[in-house]
This record gives sequence, structure tokens and C-alpha cells, in this order.
Amino acid sequence: MKKIFLLISLPFIIPACNNQQQANPESKKDWWKEEIVYQIYPRSFKDSNGDGVGDLKGIISELDYLKSLGITAVWLNPIYESPNDDNGYDVSDYRKILREFGTMQDFDTLLKGLHDRHIKLIMDLVVNHSSDEHEWFKQSRSSRDSKYRNYYHWWNAEKGKPPYRYSLFDINHDAWKYDSTTNAYYLHYFSRKQPDLNWENPVLRKEVYDIMKFWADKGIDGFRLDAFGFAAKDTSFPVFPNGFEKNFMLYYSMGPHLHEYLQEMNKEVFSKYKLMSVAEGAGNSFKDAHDLVDANRNELNMAYAFEGVDIAKPTGYSLTHFKEVFSRWDSAFENNGWLSIFLANHDQARMVTRFGNDSKEYREKSSTLLTSFIMTMRGTPYYYNGDELGMTNAYFTDIKQYKDMPTLNEYQYQLKQGADMTSFMKKIQFECRDNGRTPFQWDSSANAGFTTGIPWLSINPNYTTINKAAQDKDPNSVLNYFRKIVAIRKSNPILVYGKYTLLDKENPSIYAYTREWENKKWLVLLNFSAKESSINLGYHYRTKKQIINNYSATTTDEKLRPYEAVVYEL
Ligand code: GLC
Ligand code: CA
Repeated sequence: MKKIFLLISLPFIIPACNNQQQANPESKKDWWKEEIVYQIYPRSFKDSNGDGVGDLKGIISELDYLKSLGITAVWLNPIYESPNDDNGYDVSDYRKILREFGTMQDFDTLLKGLHDRHIKLIMDLVVNHSSDEHEWFKQSRSSRDSKYRNYYHWWNAEKGKPPYRYSLFDINHDAWKYDSTTNAYYLHYFSRKQPDLNWENPVLRKEVYDIMKFWADKGIDGFRLDAFGFAAKDTSFPVFPNGFEKNFMLYYSMGPHLHEYLQEMNKEVFSKYKLMSVAEGAGNSFKDAHDLVDANRNELNMAYAFEGVDIAKPTGYSLTHFKEVFSRWDSAFENNGWLSIFLANHDQARMVTRFGNDSKEYREKSSTLLTSFIMTMRGTPYYYNGDELGMTNAYFTDIKQYKDMPTLNEYQYQLKQGADMTSFMKKIQFECRDNGRTPFQWDSSANAGFTTGIPWLSINPNYTTINKAAQDKDPNSVLNYFRKIVAIRKSNPILVYGKYTLLDKENPSIYAYTREWENKKWLVLLNFSAKESSINLGYHYRTKKQIINNYSATTTDEKLRPYEAVVYEL
């Protein structure tokens, strides 16, 4: 069976690191390095009016919850007007709020409410493509002479069929769609309803900068650039080698002039406001990633790389591999550039299911272990809503329960190929992104307190035991552990800036590292296994000053308990 229906699960190719450059002291401290970003998937967070869809008023009603978490910034998935082919990643008007989500007035209230609580707002900017229902595309498709024609990529049919391009979301994986109105094909790397914008056109680029300024003038604090690595294209559309789609990142990402576009965006927008910037993906090599984010290049602030989250497979993953990847990235960015740290987002299944252990026995401990990892690594943490409760995969058994467009398209595609659908269903139980999108579990009342109506995506039945209300009351809950460790990170710059050193790298169960900053040294010990495990550090760690531990009862036993996470000051 072909494994191509989720772009984010494709492996990235990273050559060996040779980027040990000179320390760059002036880039050491920056406000955006100190942020703790909490990602909200608005559709699934909180519904205020009973239509089953989360909305801005719902988020507004939980502003105090956000404040109680201690997080300092919110990244909101797209909230713009959209026909919702891909849950808002198909924008039909970049200056309007999706009606289901509310109004511009609600947006202003939300922004003010966040700022009143010292929480910043990062918006998702989806400009590799728009919706086919955007006015630009309607005009563009109407005539070859339209002034919007060059806002998109067209291939006139009299030239014959265009060279094959693979589409991630198309039902036939064909990225060229024939349109009879003008006898031409248009390009869509994602679905047919997501035509790619033509970044080679300076008029289009200016339109995007104006949109960005519209939001920046409202006072938002940053942008996450969706799928931006794909934006630049070789518009001669050369033929790619057979089978290129198995490694499409090499052909699709970091096209010609991408850096020029980012430098232009930086000059036109970022440099004029106090904004943080991050793009989805980090190119195909450390060199690409550095070229995107090194301070002296004036492009983006930080890299958001997938090699770490891509490790988890249905068959599991090896901790030594996990350690190797995160350590390699850290060392490549030790002196220059800056990273994001995350284990989940709206395109992934749940963190505890993929990287921890979602059994009744170990769900809580392994959730807090993973949270400890994210909050004690160098880089800006991006933490996905619901993970602070240890929410798990949904384990849907019927394709009708799924709503994700690429998954449903892939289901049809596999069916047509005569694939083994039982194993397909198993696979999506583990990795379909709907697993991470089931509604937030607020309490044990009907529909988890998410909605009074019918939720747009089924609620995970485990909400009766896993929910915010229950965890609020329990001082040892996953939620209260999250609050504790966030507070520790915020008041201890060692966790943001401190030098990272991996210890005992071959240890198959324990991830151990130190962080050092201004004459302080902290030790982080994480037992990623369900068994008691030990590590030889050459000294007794239980005698050191404990900063935090995910077990409430202390022990003098120098063995880490199952999924124990503990931080010491040395
Ligand atoms: C990014 C988004 C994903 C979306 C895709 C197309 O990968 O994170 O949710 O489907 O781009 O916009
Ligand atoms: Ca609603």
C-alpha cells in the first residue's frame, strides 16, 4: 500500500551536520525564544452556540483557562472565510472571519482578551494556495486575459498535458486539474479546491503583504506560514524523474527564489512590526533550515522541522533514534538560528498515543513525561490543545466517523487499487489527523461540555474520565503537571537558553540530558519505558535538589519508575 496520504508523515532527508559556526552572541536573547506557544484548533475547542462547531466566542469563554495554563502565546489554526474543503486551509477571503467561527468583532474581542492576559496571538497564514472559491481564482479561471490569470499556475491545453505533478490530497494524486472554461490546467499540490498561488508574480506577493499588514495593524503578534516551503516554483515545470513522489519534498520544497520572497516579506512586513515568524517545515537539509532562520539573513525567526515527529510509526519507534534526531538538531542550531520543539499538532494523531503509552495504566505518566521533554528542551515549545489533559487517539472503527478530506480521498483511492482495507483502517486509527482533532474534553457532561448540539467530529468516549473539570480538581493531574512545568520554564531561562548535552546516548529506555546556563546545571531524566530503568551517571542523582517530578511520592531508589520524568539541579 502506498503511504502518501499525509504529507507530514514523510521522512525528511537530513545530511550530516557540519554547521558548527561561530557563536552569535547578539542573537542569544529574543522575546520569541521565550514564548510558550499553545496551539488551538478552533473547530474543536469550544462551541458557544450549539451548532456543533467550535468558534471564537467559545475560545473567548475560556480565556481564563488559557491564562491558568501559563502559556504565553496562542497559535490559532485558520479562522478566515472558507468553504472548508480542508477545514479552513482553503481561504476564500483573507480579511473575513469564517461565519461559523464568528465575526470580526468577536476576533477583536478575542485579541483584546488575550492581550489583557499577556498572551500573544499567532495567526496561520495560508498562502501557498487559496480556495478555488476565492475571488482571485474565480477571475483567474474566467478568461486567459484576466488580470488575475497570473495569480495562479495555468498550463494551456494546446501545449499537451503538463508534466506530471503529484498531489498530496487529490483523489487521483494528480496535481493538474483540467478546466474547460479556458481549456487549461491549473496546479494544486493539495486538493482541487486549493489551487496554488503564483509567487513568481510580484503583484500577488504584494497582495499577500497587504493581507499580512491588515492583521498586523490589528495588533497580532506573529504568523505561522502554512506549507510555505512549496510556494516557490520553477514555472517552466520540468519533467521530474519517475517515482519522484516518494520523495516529493526534494522536488517540491525550497524552489527557486524562495529565500528572496521571504526576505522581501521580511522587509515589507516583519521588519515593520513586532511579529514572530515560523514556517511549516524547514527545507531538506540543515543548510536549508539555517538559510531560513539565521538572524543575519532576515527571513524567519525559527525552524519548525518534522524529522522528530516523523519518527513514530504504527510499529513503534526506538528511543535511541529519537534521542539522536533531537540531539542532532539541537547541536546544529547551538550557535545560530533557533528551533521549535513539538511532538504534535493538528496534522498528527495524539502525542500520548504516538510517543507515549495511552493504556489506562500509563497514560498519565507517559503524557507528563512527554510534556516534560517538550518543556525542558532548547527551542520554542509548541504545545497542542488537549495534550495538557493527555487526550488520546479516537480509535474510530468506521470510515464514516472520519471527516478528514485527504483521508477520505485516500480511502477511495486505495479501494480503487484493490488494497487491503483492513490494514488501511488500522493505519488510520494510528495516524489519521482526525485523532488529534476530536473535540476538547471539558467535563463529563453530555458531549464533553464541548457543545450542546451534535459535534462536527465524534467525541472520544473516554471523555467521561479524561476531562478538564476532573483534572482541575486533582493536584496530581496531567493538567496540573502541565501548569507546574510551564511555570518552571517561564521563570528559569536555563530551560530556554541553556546548553544541551546528551548523556548515555545508547541507553535504550532513558533519555538523559543536562542544561547549563550562567553557572547553573540542571539534569533531566526521562524514562521512556513501562519498566523500571536505571542509568549510571557516576553520582547519586536522588540526593540532588529536585525541581520537578511527575510522581508525587518521592523515592530514594536510584531507579526511574515507569515513565518517570524528573529534573534536578546539580
Ligand atoms: C499544512 C496544514 C494542513 C493543511 C495543508 C494544506 O500542512 O498544516 O493542515 O491540510 O497545509 O493547507
Ligand atoms: Ca459554534
